[in-house]
Amino acid sequence: MKKVLITGTGSYIPKNIISNKELVDSFNTWVEKFNLEHSEEIASGAMEAKRPSSVEFIEKASGIKQRYVIEKSGILDIERMRPKLTSRGIDEPSITAEMALNASQKALTNAGLQADDLDLIISAGSVPERAYPAVSIELQNLLGVNDAYAYDMNLGCASAMFAIKMARDAIATGTAKRALVVNAEIVTGHVDFHNRDSHFIFGDACSAIILEAEDVARENSGYEIMDIALVTKFSNNIRNDFGFLTPNYEPALPNERLLFQQNGNKVFKEVTRMVVDFVGKQFERNNVSADDVKRAWLHQANYNMDLLIAKKLFNREITSEFMPMILDKYANVSSAGTIISFHETKEELASGDVGLICAFGAGYSIGSILIKRR
Ligand code: COA
Repeated sequence: MKKVLITGTGSYIPKNIISNKELVDSFNTWVEKFNLEHSEEIASGAMEAKRPSSVEFIEKASGIKQRYVIEKSGILDIERMRPKLTSRGIDEPSITAEMALNASQKALTNAGLQADDLDLIISAGSVPERAYPAVSIELQNLLGVNDAYAYDMNLGCASAMFAIKMARDAIATGTAKRALVVNAEIVTGHVDFHNRDSHFIFGDACSAIILEAEDVARENSGYEIMDIALVTKFSNNIRNDFGFLTPNYEPALPNERLLFQQNGNKVFKEVTRMVVDFVGKQFERNNVSADDVKRAWLHQANYNMDLLIAKKLFNREITSEFMPMILDKYANVSSAGTIISFHETKEELASGDVGLICAFGAGYSIGSILIKRR
C-alpha cells in the first residue's frame, strides 16, 4: 500500500455577506406580518403565534456571527425567503460546478500541479444540484482533464471525509496517482428561512483538496495521511426529504419535510458522545496520545459542541490556535467547513506535528483523519 499525502487545498467563498442582524431583522419582520395576518386564529388558540429570533441567542447557542451566500436578496425578501438563482441553460456550467472549478484551481496551484495531472475527481457534498450527469464529470470537463474518472457522493456534513477515504484508498492501491476532492455546498438552497430553530445555521462555500501518492508528490511537502476512520449510524434527527420522487408523492410532503430539519438538541448530545468515543478509539488504534495532537480541525456546526468534544478528547486548554474555528465568519457550510478551516490554518502545523481533521453530521456519519506534516 502506497503512502498518500494531502498536497494542496483551496476554497471558494461567495461575495455576499448576511450578518445575524440582517437575517434576524428580516425573520422578525416576517413573524410580525404572519402573526398579524393570523391574529384571529392565534387569539382563538387554533394557531400558535410565531416567536421572534434573536442575534444574542444565535451567537450564544452556535457561535455563528454571519454567513456568505450565493444570493442574498431572495433570502432577505420576506415574500420569498429563499435564494433567487437564475436558471441556466444545459450548455452553461452549473452553479456548483463553477464554484468547484474556482476552488479546485486554487488547490491545484497550491499543490503545484496542472489539472491534467489528476486521474480521479470526487465531488462530495450534502446538497447536490441535480441527479445527473455527475457534477464531478462536469468539473472534469471544465478543468479539461481527459484521462481520469469522476463521481459524486453524499454523506451529509461528513461527505469530504468519506470522499478523502475513497481517494486515499484508490491511490494507496494504485488505481489513481493524484485525486481531487471537492465540496461545493449551496446549503442556503435547502434551508427553511421561516424556521426559527434553523434559519441562522448555514452559509454557502466550496472546498477542494488534492491527494497524491508519495512517489509522485514533491519531496518533503504535504501532510501524510496516517489513518482515516469512518462510521455511520442511522438517525432521523437530521433530514432533508427532497428528491426526484417529491412531485409524485400523495399526499404531497409538507415544505418542512423537503427542507433541512433537525432536532438540534438531540444531535448535539448524541453526536458529541459518538465522536468522543470514536476518535478516542482511533487514537488508541494508532498509538497516538491526545498530547501528540497539535491541531484539531473539527466540523464547523456548533462552537459549543466542538469545545465539549475537544475538552473530552484533549487534556489541555482549548485555544483558538489548537481548534481553529471559521463558523463565526462562514456559518455552517456543511462538508466544506472542516476542509476550509484546515486550508486557512494548515501552515501553522510544524514539520512532524500530528493533526486531527474530523467531520460529523446527517446519517449520522462521522469521518476522522489523522495527519502528520512532512
Ligand atoms: N432565537 C431565539 N431563541 C431561539 C431561537 C432563535 N432563533 N431558536 C430557538 N430558540 C429558543 C428555543 O425556543 C428554546 O427556548 P424555549 O425552551 O423557551 O422554547 C431555547 O432557545 C433553546 O432551544 P434549543 O433548541 O434547545 O437550543 P440549543 O441550545 O440546542 O441550540 C442549535 C440550537 C441548533 C444551535 C444546537 O442544538 C446545535 O447546533 N446542535 C447541533 C447541530 C449539528 O451539529 N448539526 C449537524 C449537522 S448540520
